[in-house]
Amino acid sequence: MRQGAIAGWTQTVFPTGWFQVAWSPEIAVGDVVARHYWCRDLVVWRGASGRVHAMDAREKRRGVDLGRASRVVGEALECVVDGWLWQPDGSALTPDGTRIEGDNVLRVYETREVMGLVLLWYDELGRPPAWEIEVEPEAVSPDFYPAWPHGAVLDPMACQPQIMAENIADVVHVHYAHRWLDIPTITQWDDDGPVLVVGYRGQFSSPRGPVDAEFGNKAYGFGVMRTRMHSLRKFIHILCPTPIDRERMDVRLSAWVQRAPGDTGDVPDKVAMALIKAQHAEVLGPNVDRTIWENQAYLERPGFRSQERQYIAFRKWAKQFYPDPAQTETQTPATVG
Ligand code: FES
Ligand SMILES: [Fe+2]
Repeated sequence: MRQGAIAGWTQTVFPTGWFQVAWSPEIAVGDVVARHYWCRDLVVWRGASGRVHAMDAREKRRGVDLGRASRVVGEALECVVDGWLWQPDGSALTPDGTRIEGDNVLRVYETREVMGLVLLWYDELGRPPAWEIEVEPEAVSPDFYPAWPHGAVLDPMACQPQIMAENIADVVHVHYAHRWLDIPTITQWDDDGPVLVVGYRGQFSSPRGPVDAEFGNKAYGFGVMRTRMHSLRKFIHILCPTPIDRERMDVRLSAWVQRAPGDTGDVPDKVAMALIKAQHAEVLGPNVDRTIWENQAYLERPGFRSQERQYIAFRKWAKQFYPDPAQTETQTPATVG
């Protein structure tokens, strides 16, 4: 795995979008979790109403990390050091009822829970969410095993989300890296707006002979990427890379696989488990994508060949997610470490 900076990576801002910070069952009512993403310390908690809130964790008076030194009281977070009650809007109330405002207010983040994923909207300019994530029918269908907990995996990676997302546009590597029998045929390409939809079709080999496979990718920026597959069974996975800093990211993969006929339990059967494991191994395992992404330099102007022309379209689409760095100068992260 690469140590240190990604060679050639020149972005000084993080991309805008929805990014996963947890799975819903990891945060019960009254739970507080600490996270470190976008070089910031964050606190995520579930209030008494059941709503999830997210905020910068580092309060500015004494430097306490509220992700590690607070408890939930109603919808608020009570600091265990001095009893200040931090509200979901980033302001605080002292025990004598004084409202803390102005420079001490902490930055808050919009959250959503979709398909059991806890998502946070990140934008360096502080702009509100510009799109929403749709529920995939498989994620709520009784015909599919739930993704949590057996189809869910978290793995850190020395990479940035865009580099992982570029995989969607790269049908050439599907043949060479993932050993499909030929370069798949692109059946759909729609890059209008913040959602990229790419479909392709082909065959891979199995001990029982060639298997027809169809992939449907849908990327909401770089933070939430769904792949719908149909081979031995129908299944989908959602891949969510979240930047830790400019060199690393956490990758969460959630997979929903079609149930075995007649199976009503929530534990995937052998075939479903094999499909889940195969996806984890292809994407996060040491052999294929991970090794490519963690070691590849980022080239602003790669020498694309005609087979790779969709990559050019991808790079054009990708630009919209990076705010102009000149506009972010006033936004300094409240972070330590
Ligand atoms: S010490 Fe500052 S909020 Fe508790
Ligand atoms: Fe791949």
